[in-house]
Amino acid sequence: MKPLDTLISKQSHLYNERVNLTLDTFLKTLDKSATSLHQAIQYTCLNGGKRLRALLVYAVGETFGVQSYQLDNAAAAVELIHSYSLIHDDLPAMDNANLRRGKPACHKAFNEAIAILAGDAQQALAFHLLTKQTCLSDKQTLKMIQVLSEAALDMVTGQALDITANLEKTDLLALNKIHLGKTAALIKASILLGALPSNPSQDSLDLLSEYGKHLGLAYQIHDDILDVEGSAEILGKPAQADEAKDKVTYPAICGLDIAKETAKNHFNQAMQHLSKLPIQSDFLNRLSALMINRAY
Ligand code: IPE
Ligand code: IPE
Ligand code: MG
Ligand code: MG
Ligand code: MG
Repeated sequence: MKPLDTLISKQSHLYNERVNLTLDTFLKTLDKSATSLHQAIQYTCLNGGKRLRALLVYAVGETFGVQSYQLDNAAAAVELIHSYSLIHDDLPAMDNANLRRGKPACHKAFNEAIAILAGDAQQALAFHLLTKQTCLSDKQTLKMIQVLSEAALDMVTGQALDITANLEKTDLLALNKIHLGKTAALIKASILLGALPSNPSQDSLDLLSEYGKHLGLAYQIHDDILDVEGSAEILGKPAQADEAKDKVTYPAICGLDIAKETAKNHFNQAMQHLSKLPIQSDFLNRLSALMINRAY
């Protein structure tokens, strides 16, 4: 897959490299005695992906005057949780998808047991990385662990609701709850993590939370639209897969036009909250726009 970063700025390319280097360096320090487990983690974490959550960590940090080296572990931790969620999401017991980021899904490249264990390991590794932040105070690290663990739990709750949802019986309110959990929670957490080292005011945290929730909702609706309109070649994952599995999505419940309008609406609400912050960032604005204009 082509990296998206160069589309927004050179700065995002640098951030992308930072998170890849952090992950690569950290993974090299791990016990390699369970060879296929280690390979599965490397395969999952270093195989591309847009890294939009890591970029959000750095972009919000930049806006709040945080140095990027203070955010390397947080950016990597968010991507570890995100890519673990994708490994499990693709398993036969969940979405049963064979393709991820243009390559065989983890359970296809290895096997189901190793894929489950790689996901489990990545979740632990994410929090382990946060505990190794020597450039932040213990209080700041503790707050980061709190924010990321809440998001990881909300993500799993959203996934559980997603796989049990029935298309006939789910209304938009229930679908919103699924999206807030499975997708918006981690996007919101990425945004908060970026700001935390600056000890932001509660008002700023509240605005960032609302920005993150609406951006996350727009992101998942756009993902569901891409599933309908895209191709596996461009998406790097199966296309037209949601309908085949009777997944509950905005396009399935109210059609593509309303889905697009709703995504735009959430994006606008996200940007309204962002604009109320005392500091503005062109990079963050462009990154946010890219998240709902992306083709994959
Ligand atoms: C896919 O996320 C799952 C969703 C929550 C929509 P991304 O589209 O951000 O996945 P990668 O990391 O770029 O592969
Ligand atoms: C995924 O939603 C959400 C999480 C992985 C938490 P989807 O199931 O729509 O994501 P894709 O389309 O497989 O990437
Ligand atoms: Mg899913
Ligand atoms: Mg899926
Ligand atoms: Mg999808």
